[in-house]
Amino acid sequence: MSTASRVSTARVDQFFTVAEARFDRWRSLLQAARNWERATRVQQPDKQKCQAATSVLFEDLREWEDFFAYPGQALLRALGERISSDDATGTAHLTQAISTSLLTHSYRNNSSEREDQEISPAGFADRVPLGHEEGATHRPYFEVLMVSPARPATWSELAHDLRKLRRNEDSFIYDTVFVGSFEDAVLGTILNGSIEAVVIYEGIPFPSSHHAPVLREFLTAYLAANGVDANAGLHGLELAQALKLLRPELDIYFLTDTQPEKLAGDRSASCIRRVFCQVEEPLELHLSILDGIAERYKTPYFENLQRYAQRPIGTFHALPVARGKSIFKSNWIRDMGQFYGLNLFLAESSATTGGLDSLLEPTGNIKIAQEKAARAFGADHVFFVTNGTSTSNKMVEQALLGPGDIMLVDRNCHKSHHYGAVISGALPLYLEAYPLTQYSMYGAVPISTMKKALLDLKAEGKLDRARLLVLTNCTFDGHIYNVERVMEECLAIKPDLIFLWDEAWFGFARWSPFYRRRTAMGAAEILERKFKDPAYREAYEEQQRKLGAGPSDALLLQTRLLANPDKVRLRVYQTNSTHKSMSCLRQGSMVLVKDPDYHTVEEQFHEAVFTHASTSPNLQIIASLDVARRQMELEGYELVNRAIQLALDIRRAVNSHPLVSKYFRVLGADEMIPAEFRNSGFVDYLAPDMNWAKAVKALREDEVALDVTRLTLVCGSAGFDGTQFKNMLAADYDIQLNKTSRNSILLQTNINNTRSDIAQLIKVLVEISEKIEKQLADGGPAAQQTFAARVRSLMTDVPNLPNFSSFSARFREDPSSKTWEGDMRAAFFSAYRAPQCEHLKLASPELDKRLKDGPELVSANFVIPYPPGFPIMVPGQVINAETIEFMRKLDVKEIHGYTAALGLKLLNPAFLQSVNPSSTNTVQSTKNVKRKSARAAMDD
Ligand SMILES: Cc1ncc(COP(=O)(O)O)c(C=O)c1O
Repeated sequence: MSTASRVSTARVDQFFTVAEARFDRWRSLLQAARNWERATRVQQPDKQKCQAATSVLFEDLREWEDFFAYPGQALLRALGERISSDDATGTAHLTQAISTSLLTHSYRNNSSEREDQEISPAGFADRVPLGHEEGATHRPYFEVLMVSPARPATWSELAHDLRKLRRNEDSFIYDTVFVGSFEDAVLGTILNGSIEAVVIYEGIPFPSSHHAPVLREFLTAYLAANGVDANAGLHGLELAQALKLLRPELDIYFLTDTQPEKLAGDRSASCIRRVFCQVEEPLELHLSILDGIAERYKTPYFENLQRYAQRPIGTFHALPVARGKSIFKSNWIRDMGQFYGLNLFLAESSATTGGLDSLLEPTGNIKIAQEKAARAFGADHVFFVTNGTSTSNKMVEQALLGPGDIMLVDRNCHKSHHYGAVISGALPLYLEAYPLTQYSMYGAVPISTMKKALLDLKAEGKLDRARLLVLTNCTFDGHIYNVERVMEECLAIKPDLIFLWDEAWFGFARWSPFYRRRTAMGAAEILERKFKDPAYREAYEEQQRKLGAGPSDALLLQTRLLANPDKVRLRVYQTNSTHKSMSCLRQGSMVLVKDPDYHTVEEQFHEAVFTHASTSPNLQIIASLDVARRQMELEGYELVNRAIQLALDIRRAVNSHPLVSKYFRVLGADEMIPAEFRNSGFVDYLAPDMNWAKAVKALREDEVALDVTRLTLVCGSAGFDGTQFKNMLAADYDIQLNKTSRNSILLQTNINNTRSDIAQLIKVLVEISEKIEKQLADGGPAAQQTFAARVRSLMTDVPNLPNFSSFSARFREDPSSKTWEGDMRAAFFSAYRAPQCEHLKLASPELDKRLKDGPELVSANFVIPYPPGFPIMVPGQVINAETIEFMRKLDVKEIHGYTAALGLKLLNPAFLQSVNPSSTNTVQSTKNVKRKSARAAMDD
């Protein structure tokens, strides 16, 4: 093992590049070993130098390999011996064999390959890894981290003892990795994504034997911030808590020989799955480890569906494709069966019996699958949804909001929320995000904007009606809220405000220790802990003393508010498009609930499910939700890590490529997030002095952070508008993406991407850049001027983004109110009556005249251009000159809610001025009467 005094060029705590960097190190070693072999074969004079180079790379690599079961100490020792004994050929062969095995993961499938390392490392070198063992059923492989204070010399014996316990009937197979300290256990858990369980022996020391200063910096801040006292003396329990914070899915076992029953009864030890007495039978430990994995592996709905598909079932219900007979026997559509395969049809049914359960009222396998998902995602309840998050959002909003309630919502949120307001009759109070005008997109809503809206509502006597805050986390372009701070500060003003976090894009974030605290469930967990902490109560009371009685709004706005822990009701809902970031079929979505008052809305929640869920849900989507959960609980950490690494690789490759970076650039956090929201001083992940302790600090403190996996690639500087560039990538290069802006496209990495995808992308960008270079060179000054003008137009002549103007007085209870909520539902249904509407062409002089002299223009419907994809008009909204200017500058073809031939659809002045509202208009005609919400009326 390497010592602390050794400083390698790539330290073990360089976390952001864990997995890929490991492969790179093995590849470099292989390259060096081959050079050395060649030099030896042809008797090159520098063969000694080649040997030395190989040796340095090997030493560097060894530092990291302590944290992995494969190749393990025996093989590494053998490799070291070959290098030191001048065996160039043997070194090259063994390195080749190990790196191939690592790259293909064949060591996971092939138990004999792993065993060989113990028996005969020498023999192993000459074998090519076989991949899957012939005839053997696949048994998933994982690694167990053993944290032991015993002398390292005894570790291999312990490992051997556990290996002897393997039985043929075990469903999984594992190997062990030994470390000897708290810090090394944390490192192992971070670095090795194959670790699924941790066994902690009592009495471990704290410091690492590796050189890991950044880890220490991180640990000190991270553990303290999460209430873990690593200096407590006995480190076992603190280690268990720390590891659970990093990777909550891990099973943790504790071995002690002093009063195990006492520890087992300690509430702070709930993070430990089982406590064992050290001297007892290790078979129990072995079986418990397997049992823990089995619990995560089990996918009750999917497994039952597979069994169902194998049964000879006669169907007399309405789903002809079930069993596939109408397809496979058909003269004309047999190819459909051939394409999709028999199982798809055998696994289809419209029945809810036979363990298939009912999605609308689950009592069996779906219920269990949802409970497992709740555990995995850190929620109290989970609802599977098979019609996308568009439906999940509407369900939550219908369930939580009634007519007259006020819903504070980001104006740029997904359209499902706007429709949620229409459905529920709640009055949207739109909050503006900060604009990124140059890139025609919006960022996040500043916390000060949210607080001001709540304080204004309070001033207007309407705070009791403010029921729900809806925010998109992260936004399409990757802006992540400081979820904890948003909830804490809003609850300080309105202690029972409910939160709906639309995490359509961010479901995967649960499996990143960086991002988790910025997810709805992660932040709720942190706040739950905080609100129970006596120190928090003290800090709150101290803040109250400082603020004094009746603090001004200005003071409240500038203070980082703490919530009253005795009053808060932490009610958090999250929706996520599981299909967008996990291995789930399209439209698979989940609603997560963490709400101590859920029982008060449970009935209406079920009503909302009945309203929106199809009575014919697709069984395959339900099964894939179940399977996506399994995957994330078992390999989500590793996969998400890789997606983050790949995103960083793309950022680095594009921005540092001498040719590509002349025309293209991926925007960093500093360009996507104004400095005032990067409180920690964080600049970007690629900044030269960056390390992951700083990234963690920024993720803890900053008001807004950037999800690195969402990459805004500026293409305007290459003369392409977003749509044009997207279409070109699809048509000419088979590269697909979905979001564009005037001068950029959005690239995303996810758990599906590989390094080859990146290589392909970079190759394409090089090709396009070369083409531009050639065109500019061939075309001479004329072409260069045209190009420069095009770039200028795309990059500097950008339309201002129109803010939400206001609702027409017709749809406001009190037009003099300083809060701008409006009855959008009334406006929406007003447009159902043709005589109440009119159309005006966008280019017509009449439109300009009306803008100048009135009567005001009021939109009859939603107008949503793609891109940017947010509604620039909503029903009942007054249309101002800014919005018209934006519309006129828009050069996109797809504008939902607008037909160019007819023009803008408006509510006409006669209707707007009429005293008697139409029967569909629920706004009271008497102005200046403050209406109570239906809920407040019910409460009376
Ligand atoms: C923020 C946000 N919420 C919700 C949705 C809707 O999700 P789904 O496509 O699963 O219906 C989207 C879709 O793009 C979205 O961007």
